[in-house]
Amino acid sequence: MGHVVAGAVFRDGRVLLAQRTRPPELAGRWELPGGKIEPGESAEQALARELREELGIEVRGADRFGPPVQLGSDLVMCAYRVDLVSGEPRPLDHAALRWVDAKELEQMDLVEADRAWLPALRDMLAG
Ligand code: CDP
Repeated sequence: MGHVVAGAVFRDGRVLLAQRTRPPELAGRWELPGGKIEPGESAEQALARELREELGIEVRGADRFGPPVQLGSDLVMCAYRVDLVSGEPRPLDHAALRWVDAKELEQMDLVEADRAWLPALRDMLAG
């Protein structure tokens, strides 16, 4: 079973979403940035690597929230709250980035899998 990590970065009552460019069926839809854990990596290390590669930021921590999501038969994905250490996020691997508050989150066209985390994200944005 492969593992995918997705990172939630919070700032000023908003969470950072990224707009996918691929595959065609997901292009244009929004997600928490992340990717597959590589052999030998912890979830925290994978998050740090993926967010460095995709956003040009340094993050640390990996505070899991919400339910795990099954992606097909051989991948499971978990969401983690991470702390922004340095850098200003840039869309190095996405079409665009957006900081959204609880209200804007409801309007975003999220990829289906990430919708499982909406209740938890709502709570974290409210509190
Ligand atoms: O680049 P890498 O192959 O490591 O990761 P990816 O292609 O971004 O993500 C691996 C799988 O997780 C794909 O099937 C993505 O659609 C899915 N994914 C997702 O559903 N929601 C996310 N927030 C991140 C990834």
